[in-house]
Amino acid sequence: MKLLVINGPNLNMLGIREPDHYGKETYADLVSKIKSYCEHKSVSVELYQSNHEGDLVDAIQKAYGVFDGIVINPGAYTHTSIAILDAVKSVNIPTVEVHISKVEEREEFRQISYIRLACVKTITGHGTDGYLEAIDFLTENK
Ligand code: DQA
Repeated sequence: MKLLVINGPNLNMLGIREPDHYGKETYADLVSKIKSYCEHKSVSVELYQSNHEGDLVDAIQKAYGVFDGIVINPGAYTHTSIAILDAVKSVNIPTVEVHISKVEEREEFRQISYIRLACVKTITGHGTDGYLEAIDFLTENK
Protein backbone atom coordinates (compact mmCIF):
# COMPACT_ATOMS: atom_id res chain seq x y z
CA MET A 1 0.00 0.00 0.00
CA LYS A 2 1.44 3.32 -1.10
CA LEU A 3 -0.13 6.56 0.11
CA LEU A 4 0.37 10.18 -0.90
CA VAL A 5 -0.41 12.91 1.62
CA ILE A 6 -0.97 16.30 0.00
CA ASN A 7 -1.23 19.60 1.83
CA GLY A 8 -2.30 22.79 0.14
CA PRO A 9 -1.68 26.49 0.75
CA ASN A 10 -0.60 27.82 4.14
CA LEU A 11 -0.35 24.38 5.71
CA ASN A 12 3.42 24.90 5.71
CA MET A 13 2.62 27.65 8.24
CA LEU A 14 1.19 25.24 10.82
CA GLY A 15 2.33 26.14 14.32
CA ILE A 16 2.50 29.81 13.33
CA ARG A 17 -0.86 30.43 11.68
CA GLU A 18 -4.02 30.84 13.78
CA PRO A 19 -3.16 28.32 16.53
CA ASP A 20 -6.73 28.54 17.86
CA HIS A 21 -7.91 26.86 14.68
CA TYR A 22 -4.90 24.80 13.67
CA GLY A 23 -3.00 24.06 16.90
CA LYS A 24 0.66 24.45 17.77
CA GLU A 25 2.19 21.55 15.84
CA THR A 26 4.39 22.69 12.97
CA TYR A 27 4.33 21.29 9.43
CA ALA A 28 7.59 19.48 10.25
CA ASP A 29 5.86 17.93 13.29
CA LEU A 30 3.00 16.81 11.04
CA VAL A 31 5.40 15.25 8.53
CA SER A 32 7.23 13.26 11.20
CA LYS A 33 3.96 12.23 12.87
CA ILE A 34 2.62 10.84 9.56
CA LYS A 35 5.93 9.19 8.64
CA SER A 36 6.31 7.41 11.97
CA TYR A 37 2.64 6.34 11.96
CA CYS A 38 3.01 4.83 8.48
CA GLU A 39 6.29 3.18 9.38
CA HIS A 40 4.60 1.54 12.37
CA LYS A 41 1.77 0.34 10.08
CA SER A 42 4.20 -0.79 7.34
CA VAL A 43 2.57 1.57 4.87
CA SER A 44 4.68 3.40 2.34
CA VAL A 45 4.02 7.16 2.36
CA GLU A 46 5.12 10.29 0.54
CA LEU A 47 4.21 13.84 1.48
CA TYR A 48 3.83 16.89 -0.71
CA GLN A 49 2.94 20.49 0.14
CA SER A 50 2.39 23.40 -2.21
CA ASN A 51 0.85 26.84 -2.09
CA HIS A 52 0.05 26.67 -5.82
CA GLU A 53 -3.13 25.23 -7.30
CA GLY A 54 -1.53 23.98 -10.55
CA ASP A 55 1.26 22.25 -8.64
CA LEU A 56 -1.36 20.43 -6.57
CA VAL A 57 -3.11 19.35 -9.79
CA ASP A 58 0.27 18.12 -11.14
CA ALA A 59 0.95 16.15 -7.94
CA ILE A 60 -2.47 14.45 -8.18
CA GLN A 61 -1.96 13.61 -11.87
CA LYS A 62 1.51 12.18 -11.17
CA ALA A 63 -0.02 9.91 -8.51
CA TYR A 64 -1.82 7.96 -11.25
CA GLY A 65 -0.49 4.41 -11.41
CA VAL A 66 1.89 5.08 -8.51
CA PHE A 67 -0.21 5.51 -5.35
CA ASP A 68 -3.10 3.43 -3.97
CA GLY A 69 -4.61 6.22 -1.91
CA ILE A 70 -4.44 9.97 -1.36
CA VAL A 71 -4.98 11.97 1.81
CA ILE A 72 -5.50 15.61 0.95
CA ASN A 73 -6.01 18.82 2.83
CA PRO A 74 -6.39 21.34 0.01
CA GLY A 75 -6.54 24.29 2.46
CA ALA A 76 -8.47 27.21 1.02
CA TYR A 77 -8.55 25.55 -2.42
CA THR A 78 -11.13 23.19 -0.91
CA HIS A 79 -13.65 26.00 -1.22
CA THR A 80 -12.70 27.27 -4.68
CA SER A 81 -10.95 24.70 -6.85
CA ILE A 82 -12.83 22.78 -9.49
CA ALA A 83 -9.42 22.00 -11.05
CA ILE A 84 -8.37 20.00 -7.98
CA LEU A 85 -11.76 18.24 -7.92
CA ASP A 86 -11.32 17.32 -11.60
CA ALA A 87 -7.77 16.07 -10.99
CA VAL A 88 -8.98 13.69 -8.25
CA LYS A 89 -11.80 12.51 -10.51
CA SER A 90 -9.30 11.97 -13.36
CA VAL A 91 -6.95 9.68 -11.47
CA ASN A 92 -9.74 7.78 -9.71
CA ILE A 93 -7.54 6.98 -6.68
CA PRO A 94 -9.42 6.59 -3.36
CA THR A 95 -9.01 9.98 -1.71
CA VAL A 96 -9.81 11.20 1.80
CA GLU A 97 -10.36 14.90 2.47
CA VAL A 98 -8.93 16.13 5.79
CA HIS A 99 -9.39 19.44 7.57
CA ILE A 100 -7.64 20.17 10.83
CA SER A 101 -10.33 22.60 11.97
CA LYS A 102 -14.05 21.98 12.20
CA VAL A 103 -14.85 23.77 8.95
CA GLU A 104 -18.59 23.16 9.31
CA GLU A 105 -18.65 25.42 12.36
CA ARG A 106 -16.70 28.26 10.72
CA GLU A 107 -17.49 30.92 8.11
CA GLU A 108 -20.11 30.25 5.46
CA PHE A 109 -17.54 30.30 2.64
CA ARG A 110 -15.85 27.29 4.26
CA GLN A 111 -19.05 25.24 3.95
CA ILE A 112 -18.44 24.60 0.26
CA SER A 113 -16.08 21.76 -0.60
CA TYR A 114 -15.66 20.97 -4.27
CA ILE A 115 -13.18 18.16 -3.66
CA ARG A 116 -15.66 16.36 -1.36
CA LEU A 117 -17.59 15.30 -4.47
CA ALA A 118 -14.67 13.05 -5.44
CA CYS A 119 -13.67 11.82 -1.97
CA VAL A 120 -14.50 8.52 -0.28
CA LYS A 121 -14.47 10.19 3.15
CA THR A 122 -14.12 13.59 4.84
CA ILE A 123 -12.58 14.13 8.27
CA THR A 124 -12.85 17.53 9.95
CA GLY A 125 -12.02 19.00 13.32
CA HIS A 126 -9.80 16.23 14.67
CA GLY A 127 -6.61 18.29 14.48
CA THR A 128 -3.65 16.57 12.86
CA ASP A 129 -4.94 13.19 14.12
CA GLY A 130 -7.40 13.48 11.22
CA TYR A 131 -4.56 12.60 8.83
CA LEU A 132 -3.89 9.39 10.78
CA GLU A 133 -7.61 8.53 10.73
CA ALA A 134 -7.58 9.04 6.96
CA ILE A 135 -4.59 6.69 6.66
CA ASP A 136 -6.44 4.09 8.77
CA PHE A 137 -9.51 4.43 6.57
CA LEU A 138 -7.55 3.94 3.34
CA THR A 139 -5.61 0.97 4.67
CA GLU A 140 -8.74 -0.69 6.06
CA ASN A 141 -10.80 -0.11 2.89
CA LYS A 142 -8.37 -1.00 0.11
C1 DQA B 1 -8.32 23.94 6.48
C2 DQA B 1 -9.61 24.73 6.48
C3 DQA B 1 -9.65 25.70 5.32
O1 DQA B 1 -10.86 26.43 5.34
C4 DQA B 1 -8.49 26.67 5.41
O2 DQA B 1 -8.49 27.54 4.31
C5 DQA B 1 -7.18 25.99 5.57
C6 DQA B 1 -7.10 24.84 6.46
C7 DQA B 1 -8.20 23.02 7.71
O3 DQA B 1 -7.29 22.19 7.72
O4 DQA B 1 -8.97 23.16 8.67
O5 DQA B 1 -6.17 26.43 5.04
O6 DQA B 1 -8.30 23.10 5.34
